[in-house]
Amino acid sequence: MFDLNATLGYAPPLDVNNLTKEQTAISIEGLNLYYQQKKALSDITMTIPKGQVTAFIGPSGCGKSTLLRCINRMNDLVEGCRVEGKVRLHGKNIYHPKVDVPTLRRRVGMVFQRPNPFPKSIYENVVYGLRLQGSKESRFLDDAVERSLRAAALWDEVKDRLHENAFGLSGGQQQRLVIARAIAIEPEVLLLDEPTSALDPISTLTIEELINDLKSKYSVVLVTHNMQQAARVSDHTAFIHMGQLVEYSDTDSIFTSPVHKKTEDYITGRYG
Ligand SMILES: Nc1ncnc2c1ncn2[C@@H]1O[C@H](COP(=O)(O)OP(=O)(O)OP(=O)(O)O)[C@@H](O)[C@H]1O
Ligand SMILES: [Mg+2]
Repeated sequence: MFDLNATLGYAPPLDVNNLTKEQTAISIEGLNLYYQQKKALSDITMTIPKGQVTAFIGPSGCGKSTLLRCINRMNDLVEGCRVEGKVRLHGKNIYHPKVDVPTLRRRVGMVFQRPNPFPKSIYENVVYGLRLQGSKESRFLDDAVERSLRAAALWDEVKDRLHENAFGLSGGQQQRLVIARAIAIEPEVLLLDEPTSALDPISTLTIEELINDLKSKYSVVLVTHNMQQAARVSDHTAFIHMGQLVEYSDTDSIFTSPVHKKTEDYITGRYG
């Protein structure tokens, strides 16, 4: 039968609530998280697809960053934080006692709200993780710098000043440098926690275009306060409210026909 969608190259969105094993990057099952006595996440169960952009949205304090940090065990660094449940990366539970956390964090890179380059040259920022892994050969490192900076849409702006200090870059350039540093070690997943909230509109657009390019190689999870941003760059959106996953679906459905009243109230700006 003639398939118009196939002819036009249109693929219907994946159903994130019914992903196959092959389509899944991360699966979270019965996740509860406590800061001391305070429960910050309640019984979160969801699967995050490979090679797509998934956004976490919700009001301030609802647990977006907390959930994101569970995916590379950043919460381990918080005293009094306790996690129950499972988070699987490509099928393996990352909370298993035998998991090597530094290796996990190489597989799951993270970028924060404020650009945080190291006080080193642009070049040394990008090769930082590779040097930690023992890479020394300059030809290999040079190639990695060019590849990562190109992938982060920064190469043309900095190729003539690679050995200058990274603090000389603009905020938007610093954030792209931090993304280049994260992808230099070729992670499987990239976690972005409000990566543009400290940036001007032009830098924000550049990063949004970059996020769209990154998903061809990485599974991207993006926390954002900005609903237009979630609508522009994500394939799937999870709405979180008071530590609970209220609704999770393809981004178009969340923004055009939310099932839950709370989701609708949030996306129409009634609170948050
Ligand atoms: N290190 C911590 N110790 C104790 N409580 C924390 C800690 N980090 C977060 N919380 C609490 O957990 C809850 C969820 O916080 P979280 O930072 O995940 O929210 P968020 O959705 O990312 O908010 P925002 O949009 O403001 O960044 C909040 O009530 C917060 O106060
Ligand atoms: Mg946050």
